[in-house]
Amino acid sequence: MSLLELRNVSKRYGDFAAIDGLDLTINKGELRCLLGPNGAGKTTCMDLIVGRQRVSEGTVRLMGTDIAALSEHQIARKGVGRKFQIPSVFKELTVRQNLEVAFNRNKDPFLNMLSFKNFKGMKRYDEITDLIGLKDRSNTVSGLLSHGETQWLEIGLVLMQDPVLLLMDEPTAGMTEQETYKTSQIFNTLKGSHTLVVVEHDMSFVREIADVITVMHMGKLLAEGTITEIENNPQVRNVYLGTEGIH
Ligand SMILES: Nc1ncnc2c1ncn2[C@@H]1O[C@H](COP(=O)(O)OP(=O)(O)O)[C@@H](O)[C@H]1O
Ligand SMILES: [Mg+2]
Repeated sequence: MSLLELRNVSKRYGDFAAIDGLDLTINKGELRCLLGPNGAGKTTCMDLIVGRQRVSEGTVRLMGTDIAALSEHQIARKGVGRKFQIPSVFKELTVRQNLEVAFNRNKDPFLNMLSFKNFKGMKRYDEITDLIGLKDRSNTVSGLLSHGETQWLEIGLVLMQDPVLLLMDEPTAGMTEQETYKTSQIFNTLKGSHTLVVVEHDMSFVREIADVITVMHMGKLLAEGTITEIENNPQVRNVYLGTEGIH
């Protein structure tokens, strides 16, 4: 069974369809890149998956259960995590305190009030600070972190909640080339043990991380395949003509 399955999903605003009969299947352990020109419907697609927007039509199944009618809160409790473009770290708290707060926002609040300092909490904390490269920054007040470090902490915060599905909208926005490369290494480590859907414009980043790429255009699926297949697809090349392009 696939982890996430969108079938014939549409989202209409009046007469306009931001998403138009979209099918999307994501398997467990997969890292899927979602591409498409501005206005293609990528962010709306993520909004529908997390319940921030309601589908007008179609089904959204998570591990076989239709979640299209659930609230954003209920979907989060089912383990769907999302990293937003706008940072949500507490700037006055340290890296460690931020991760602790995120851990305590876990599925069972009573259990987790007690458990950050126990084995499970500390183990996850160690693994995540290693992965995001912020172990040496544990006691640094988060407001002092660089842009890249703040973004990695954001990724760490979502991971602390042990998501079954992780959605990221343009995670490398504003990053330097080096920071972008490091982020690709983080994602490559997560592949297999986590299921990720990543919206990204930076093709050098996509090339580093992508297995299967889904390209959207005008709310529809335009193409799906490997990076080589996508780059050589005439329809894809056509929709990117006259824009900054698929590089
Ligand atoms: N709340 C809304 N009301 C009306 N139109 C919207 C709304 N949200 C998004 N749209 C439209 O839906 C289309 C897809 O937007 P979006 O999902 O943000 O695209 P992308 O993330 O691929 O750039 C755009 O044309 C956008 O203007
Ligand atoms: Mg968007």
